[in-house]
Amino acid sequence: MNKQEIIDIETKHTSGVYAKQTLTIVRGQGASLFDVDGVEYLDCSSGHGVANLGHAHQKIAEAIYKQANTLITLFETFPNDKRAELMKKITSLVAGLDKVFLCNSGTESVEAAFKFARISTGRKNIVAAMRAFHGRTYGSLSATYNKKYREGFEPLVPGFSHVAYNNVEALDKAVNEETAAVILEVMQGEGGVYPATAEYIQAARRICDERGALLIVDEIQTGFGRTGRMFAIQHFGVTPDLLVCAKSLAGGVPMGAVLIGHSVKNLTPGVHGSTFGGNPLSCAAAVAALGVMEEEDLPGQAAAKGKYLMDKLKKIESPNIREVRGMGLMIGIEMKQKVAPYIKILQEKKIIALNAGMTVIRLLPPLVITYEQIDHLVDVFTEVLTQEAND
Ligand SMILES: Cc1ncc(COP(=O)(O)O)c(C=O)c1O
Repeated sequence: MNKQEIIDIETKHTSGVYAKQTLTIVRGQGASLFDVDGVEYLDCSSGHGVANLGHAHQKIAEAIYKQANTLITLFETFPNDKRAELMKKITSLVAGLDKVFLCNSGTESVEAAFKFARISTGRKNIVAAMRAFHGRTYGSLSATYNKKYREGFEPLVPGFSHVAYNNVEALDKAVNEETAAVILEVMQGEGGVYPATAEYIQAARRICDERGALLIVDEIQTGFGRTGRMFAIQHFGVTPDLLVCAKSLAGGVPMGAVLIGHSVKNLTPGVHGSTFGGNPLSCAAAVAALGVMEEEDLPGQAAAKGKYLMDKLKKIESPNIREVRGMGLMIGIEMKQKVAPYIKILQEKKIIALNAGMTVIRLLPPLVITYEQIDHLVDVFTEVLTQEAND
């Protein structure tokens, strides 16, 4: 199929819920993506933070191939070698979180965490943060703040409230003896790339402990090395009761997980479940992905490359840039004007970047991006961001 045929078929049959690009991507390698005509692009989006290991990693491909020839599907009531291997590995990542529920996406892991919090505490209320993004199914949508995602879908799930992010006083006022859980991103992604302060995360832990509420951290975007640690919460020496993750967990194969601490009670047979959850194919991919993260020290790479990139971006002198912020290889460049025209120009210059809201350019490159690619990225950004760009 040529480029126009691909676009025509997708335009004709798409549900309509995605703003389609005119770029047709058919192949990836490391931090590069290639269009149908073989033109190379530098991927600074990683499929919204999925491809931490880079595209077409040989070890992931081999693990998927091997497992596909062995056993793809098996309901979690039957124990399985690959699932056992994954459970052992994933529960070793954060001390104190030694149980896991496996599912298939980010939003599903958030839904599961809310159910677990309610059944565990016998309470109904969930406190989330303003600007938070936790997904688009009903429970997670109720915790998501921006009205652009919520409008038209009411009534949402009752019992949810939102308080200012990074504001200890507001959180302290909102959490009480009826709160089942507080849910927080350790660095807000969709909401504009805002890192939490250590003080805030540590206060959230203390407030939850004092009031008998559970602390859920959403590491769906920040997890698996992205911020320079395996999980971003590990920068702050805090252990949550529930940690939700997905995206790069299985190297790009759909998978979500909830890591569960000892304070979570009443998880008995039938309380929750998922047909595809913990299927051997995704588990094999996740075992391989976690292995690569360790062998290639992807958190260490993200820390070093993130610092290198951040330092260079901060040196760009442009009246159009308001702030550069982030952690590891999750970086936001806040502009003084709308970023859509900049993202379009970057794409014309063969760099794929994301927005986070109207005024922030978000960089989530694969953690295997090379220093040469980072230097190239900085050169292009210096050229593009020092110009004014209008619709
Ligand atoms: C912080 C956060 N939570 C939840 C989600 C939802 O994940 P999914 O799209 O896999 O349902 C996302 C997706 O971008 C996210 O960034």
